[in-house]
Amino acid sequence: MRVQKWLISKNSVNFLLKSKYVTILGSRLSSSDASKNVITAIYVDSEGNPSSEDPFDKQSKLSDQVKGSVKSFLKEKRVQIKPGTSKVLSWPSDVMPYKSISLAAVSKDNLNDPLVDLKREQIRLAYSSSIRTLSTMKETEVVVDSVGGQQQGEMGAVSEGCHLAAYNFDMYKAAKYKKPVMNLELLDESCAGRGDWMEGFVLADCQNMARTLTEMPSNLLTPEKFVEEVVNLFEQQKGDSEVELEIKIREEAWLREQQMNALLAVAQGSSQKPYLLELHLTHPKADKGVQPLVLVGKGVTFDSGGISIKPSKLMDVMRGDMGGAACVAATALGALRLNVCGRVVCLMGLVENMPSGDSFKPGDVIFSRSGHSIQVDNTDAEGRLVLADLLDYSEVWQPSAVVDVATLTLAVEVALGAAFTGVFTTTNKLFDLLRKSGSSTGDQVWRLPLSPLFTRQVSNSPLADLNNSPGLRGGGACTAAAFLSHFVKCPSWAHLDIGGVFENKNEVQYLSKGMSGRPTRTLIQFCRNYFSP
Ligand code: BES
Ligand code: ZN
Ligand code: ZN
Repeated sequence: MRVQKWLISKNSVNFLLKSKYVTILGSRLSSSDASKNVITAIYVDSEGNPSSEDPFDKQSKLSDQVKGSVKSFLKEKRVQIKPGTSKVLSWPSDVMPYKSISLAAVSKDNLNDPLVDLKREQIRLAYSSSIRTLSTMKETEVVVDSVGGQQQGEMGAVSEGCHLAAYNFDMYKAAKYKKPVMNLELLDESCAGRGDWMEGFVLADCQNMARTLTEMPSNLLTPEKFVEEVVNLFEQQKGDSEVELEIKIREEAWLREQQMNALLAVAQGSSQKPYLLELHLTHPKADKGVQPLVLVGKGVTFDSGGISIKPSKLMDVMRGDMGGAACVAATALGALRLNVCGRVVCLMGLVENMPSGDSFKPGDVIFSRSGHSIQVDNTDAEGRLVLADLLDYSEVWQPSAVVDVATLTLAVEVALGAAFTGVFTTTNKLFDLLRKSGSSTGDQVWRLPLSPLFTRQVSNSPLADLNNSPGLRGGGACTAAAFLSHFVKCPSWAHLDIGGVFENKNEVQYLSKGMSGRPTRTLIQFCRNYFSP
């Protein structure tokens, strides 16, 4: 068995590290405040009328003079700002020490929703609205005022809203076409919410890294390049964490030794070599009595459908068919940066699905690592083949739980749109943890059924033990999950189908159009909750 560590050559280009979208500056406001734009929260009723008492948060670090002049302006002009939106005000510099002040409106009332922490979600929306407006105004210097009077962790949501909205994917554009980088800093670096702000930055930054990986085109992000990018990124980070990191890069010969023939069948039509990237994270203080959590990601760097080729309309977005692997890598990065106190093993299966004279074909029978034979009825149902071998391999660690993340089906988008990640799980405990994590991040999950009614369908194959595409009319996401269940031995398993959420068309307002990096923040919170319930 060949294990390679730090395969990267010195002169390899690392795009991710080059693309710095946001910087956090440590300095406090100085005499140059007049060139900066400040964002602060104001509390409003459902119509957008500022609270008649004091619309500012108690934690606000703005001077009484500034607050007073904003208040009288709002009153005089009868300004309304609906919760979750924002408004920019500008004054001549002798009255206002900043270039502009953006008011991010948050509801003054307590908000209750059984599914999601609406307060935090509204904060993300309001602050992202401020950032978007300032970005349209070509402003780059932004200072963020403190909030947190009513609920702990609000500065985390502020930070997420700002840093997610400030992201922009333009690394292949010439300088003159790039949007200027936005510099975000705290108005008061020593404020009580600074820890939450930094944590929110890590969550958003990891999601942004998943967005970048997913957005990168498949000619530039081949399976090998994915490995290079992720390894380089972790190499930069590993010294700063208490968590010990080991990286293993498994190449084709090793995959053959392991008889990962289902994964290899998908890769065989492409000239790009397949890889399995393993990240092993161990916190020295992790409870030795708790077996590791294994995260598995589908990393199809391009899914043309293979011989069962996709219609051309749907094809370009399939450069993002490695969104599951990107999300797993980003989650591992988050766990590392936030010092998650546990053991996490990440497995990312990286292949390209292409039609060629060497491709696997409909009607082929392949023999997976687990010993199950699989009849391939549709080469476009390739993700479940990649995951089949990885899920079987995950048993090597006798894990306490296995969670896989995959752009597995279009059918999940039919069921849930872009609102929720579909989760199929064998245990209520895993679901509760995922639901709780999604409720706090706003990137939510919805449970769908694992049932023998579907399991039977995928074992109905004339040629083999299983059929990768039983060709039923409905329940495509459920039959895909049922197929995977045949390869899972761990009693605690969750499968996240992100086919509906990996791309943002316009559904989530604090993310721009393009690859979403979802549900990275939810998975990072899940890892934290898993080891420290
Ligand atoms: N990667 C796709 C699923 C997908 C497509 C997700 C577009 C998001 C957007 C997957 O490999 C696939 O092609 N699935 C097929 C399965 C079918 C052939 C049984 C699907 O969902 O149509
Ligand atoms: Zn496919
Ligand atoms: Zn696919």
